[in-house]
Amino acid sequence: MKKACVIGWPIEHSRSPLIHNYWLRKYNIDGSYEKTPVEPQSIETFIRTLAASEFIGCNVTIPHKEAVFNAVDIVDEIAGRLGAVNTVFLKNNKVCGTNTDGEGFIASLHQAYPAFGLGNKTAIIVGAGGAAKAIIGALLDEGMGKVGIINRTRERIHSLQRQFGSRVFKIDMAAASNELKTCGLLVNATSQGMEGQLPLKLDIQNLNPNALVADLVYAPLETVFMERAKNQGNPTLGGLGMLLHQAVRGFELWFGVKPEVTAELHALVAADIQKARKP
Ligand SMILES: NC(=O)c1ccc[n+]([C@@H]2O[C@H](COP(=O)([O-])OP(=O)(O)OC[C@H]3O[C@@H](n4cnc5c(N)ncnc54)[C@H](OP(=O)(O)O)[C@@H]3O)[C@@H](O)[C@H]2O)c1
Repeated sequence: MKKACVIGWPIEHSRSPLIHNYWLRKYNIDGSYEKTPVEPQSIETFIRTLAASEFIGCNVTIPHKEAVFNAVDIVDEIAGRLGAVNTVFLKNNKVCGTNTDGEGFIASLHQAYPAFGLGNKTAIIVGAGGAAKAIIGALLDEGMGKVGIINRTRERIHSLQRQFGSRVFKIDMAAASNELKTCGLLVNATSQGMEGQLPLKLDIQNLNPNALVADLVYAPLETVFMERAKNQGNPTLGGLGMLLHQAVRGFELWFGVKPEVTAELHALVAADIQKARKP
């Protein structure tokens, strides 16, 4: 029986087992997927001994994505430019790392809005952390015209500009309202709006009425930011689709079947998120 897992510290909150075990059942595969808590001081050993362990691979979550990047034998180009790994698999007895966050976002967007084209549009990303970097890279790869970044810590914007070049530009909060008039895609890639955090503070009254508004946050399923955009008539996209789609490649690498992100899976994980909400 093939076994995979998700590693993190803590790991109780992870929805990955719900997703992968749904697919294992759906495709009738003799395999398992479990949560494995790994303390930060044990992460290198866990990765170095993976090939000799019961596991054929794993997903990686907070706080291990950078440490795993440094511990694996081989990383691909996407993980290389992010400096972070979220999916680990074995190939020719080598431990390999990749990162599927960017493709997860793009696939989620295409599934929800198949007619939405990226070329020649401007995206505005709020946030400049790991998730922002993943989706900026993926959007540019997909032909997005330009990507403007708003972030509390400016140095992180400069670092992204150095990495991704002239199609990436900095937006000062004071100038944001003006830039929002013409953007085609607006993404919250900060942790603001998550359960227990304050909502994203961004005035979107001037936002282009056709702009697609995405939030990477998936708990709650609909953030205050998304609700505001929806009330203005903008199309919206929550973070759950990205969470489901980023899991696809790992499952295919480990179990040999490219799984489908179905409405049933979406509802299953959404119900679990709702259930965990504090009253
Ligand atoms: N849907 C999915 O599958 C998926 C996947 C990955 C991540 N995510 C979500 O994406 C979000 C970001 O994750 P990450 O991994 O990129 O985290 P990260 O690397 O820690 O970056 C956090 C970002 O949020 C900003 N931020 C945090 N608190 C803030 C505050 N009080 N005011 C203003 N800005 C604030 C940070 O700004 P500074 O640079 O100024 O600190 C930074 O830009 C999280 O909500 C995470 O759950 C979702």
